[in-house]
Amino acid sequence: MNEFEGAVTTRRFNDIIIYGPEDFAGMRKAGQAAAACLDLLTDLIKPGVTTAAIDALVAGYGEEHGYLSATLMYRGYRHSCCTSVNHVVCHGQPNDKPLREGDIINVDVTFVVDGWYGDSSRMYYVGEVPRKAQRLVEVTYESLMRGIAVVKPGATLGDIGAVIQEYAEGERCSVVRDFCGHGVGRSFHEAPSVLHYGQRGEGVTLKQGMIFTIEPMINLGRPHVKVLADGWTAVTRDRSLTAQFEHAVGVTETGCEIFTLSPAGLHHPPFSTDA
Ligand code: MF3
Ligand code: CO
Ligand code: CO
Repeated sequence: MNEFEGAVTTRRFNDIIIYGPEDFAGMRKAGQAAAACLDLLTDLIKPGVTTAAIDALVAGYGEEHGYLSATLMYRGYRHSCCTSVNHVVCHGQPNDKPLREGDIINVDVTFVVDGWYGDSSRMYYVGEVPRKAQRLVEVTYESLMRGIAVVKPGATLGDIGAVIQEYAEGERCSVVRDFCGHGVGRSFHEAPSVLHYGQRGEGVTLKQGMIFTIEPMINLGRPHVKVLADGWTAVTRDRSLTAQFEHAVGVTETGCEIFTLSPAGLHHPPFSTDA
């Protein structure tokens, strides 16, 4: 989008786009598209299923509804989603290896709907999962939701990072530094960068109309990651388990709207309806 087009419906705060009510409506639709697709995966993910089969389901869901996958052909990435298993931090590429009982997996889906990018990811359990893996997934979900809880005009990006870091490290986990959340809207990745660690009161002050993702990657071991030779797959250097959840949010007058909430209420595993 050039500055002239942007002037019609949006203003800029430094480089950060301030979106209006119609833009929020667009993000709501795109966010719900990604979230509904993640809902659909809940019953599919079990031992024996390949991540390529998950990718095919995401691709098929997008085709059926006329949504474009933002990751397909993005900077040479060739899949409709990212599937990150166990010690894979993010950007895991779907393949033909079957999932095994006890695995944990993040699926990250971004659909483009009417030009708006809905970006969200969720963890799933593959069958029965060890208690320590369950604890990591719970800590990671709670980290995301605590970060979201501080979002309102006048808060800073540092406030978000600080609450995530304080909570995760207090639970004897570590926060990945090499990847961050990002502004999102009419493009996949835009300003600002949303770090999942930091100091209260530091960084950009949030304003009504800003839209960005929060997507903490939390490790059971050390925070360090490396990217494999395929140029995408990021793994923990110590091969410790890692987890991630991602929502796209828009700053409102009093707090924020979560665009990517699960329409079926399947927010986190074990997905029991009474939890
Ligand atoms: N969806 C990821 C994010 O949250 C980006 C994936 S880019 C890909 O920002 F190319 F790896 F798919
Ligand atoms: Co994202
Ligand atoms: Co994502």
